[in-house]
Amino acid sequence: MAPGILVDDTSSRDGLQLEETSDNIDAVNVIKGKTNFADGKDKTQFRQYEDACDRVKNFYLEQHTKQTVAYNLKARNHYKHRKPVEMTIWEAMEKLNTLIDDSDPDTSLSQIQHLLQSAEAMRRDGQPRWMQVTGLIHDLGKLLFFYGSEGQWDVVGDTFPVGCAFDERIIYPGTFAANPDSQDPIYATELGVYTPNCGLDNVMLSWGHDEYLYHVVKDQSTLPAEALAMIRYHSFYPWHKEGAYRHLMDLEGHDEKMLAAVKEFNPYDLYSKSDGVPDVEKLKPYYMELIDEFFPERVLKW
Ligand SMILES: [Fe+2]
Ligand SMILES: [Fe+2]
Repeated sequence: MAPGILVDDTSSRDGLQLEETSDNIDAVNVIKGKTNFADGKDKTQFRQYEDACDRVKNFYLEQHTKQTVAYNLKARNHYKHRKPVEMTIWEAMEKLNTLIDDSDPDTSLSQIQHLLQSAEAMRRDGQPRWMQVTGLIHDLGKLLFFYGSEGQWDVVGDTFPVGCAFDERIIYPGTFAANPDSQDPIYATELGVYTPNCGLDNVMLSWGHDEYLYHVVKDQSTLPAEALAMIRYHSFYPWHKEGAYRHLMDLEGHDEKMLAAVKEFNPYDLYSKSDGVPDVEKLKPYYMELIDEFFPERVLKW
C-alpha cells in the first residue's frame, strides 16, 4: 500500500486526543452500565460518573450542536462520492494503530489491542466465528478521523437518530439547544420525517465511526445481519441501553432480534479492556484466516 494514501492531512489530526476522548466516553458508559443511580444509594459511583461526564461534556455539547440532518446528508454524500482507498482488513487495523500511535501503553491500550481483546473474549466464550470477526473490526471506522471527518464529534461518542426529536435518554439531553433541528417544525417532532415502526434500517443515525464502517462492510463482506447491527448500533446507547426509540423499530421482529445481538455484543466492547494484553503476532494467523472467511474479496474499498 502506498504510504499516506488514506490520509489527507495527518498533521492537523491528533490521534491521541481522539483516543483520550474515546476512552472517557467509554468510562462514562462503563460506570452507567454497572450502576443503578435511581435509588440514590450509590453516591461514590455517582461522583465517578459525574467526573467522567465532566471530561466529555464539551465534546457532547459540540456533537449535539452539529449533528443535524443537513450535516448527515452531506456526510453521506461525501462518503458516496469519495475516492475510495483500497486496503485489507489487517492493513486497516495497522493503519489505525499507526495513526493513533499510542506511545503510552501503561495508560491506554492500542487500537489493535482493544480489537483483539474484544475478539479474544468472544472466542473464549465460544461465540460464533462471524461474531469474533465483528469484535475484531468494530472500531475500524475510526479511520474516518483521518479523512473526511470534521472533528472528533463526527467520529466517536454515543449515536442517536437525526430527523426526529432528540430523546431525553440521550446522554446530556440538555445540550441540543443550539442544534437548529431542535427548533425545526418537522425534525423536532417525535416522529419527525419517519413513520411509526418504519424500521431502523430506514432511520438516519448520527454520522460517526459506527455508521461509516457499516457502510463499508455491508456490501463487501458475507457477515450476517446481526454482525452488521453490532457494527452499526454499538454506540447507539439511548436505544440498546436506555430503551428509547422503540416506536421506530419494525413490527416484524427484525429490529428486536438486532437489539438482542447488540446487547450481547456490548459487554465485549466495554468490559474486555481489563483482560491481559494480547500478543498481536501470536494471534495474527488465527485472525487472518477468520478475516479471509468473511471478506472473500480481501481488498476492501474504504
Ligand atoms: Fe466503537
Ligand atoms: Fe470498541
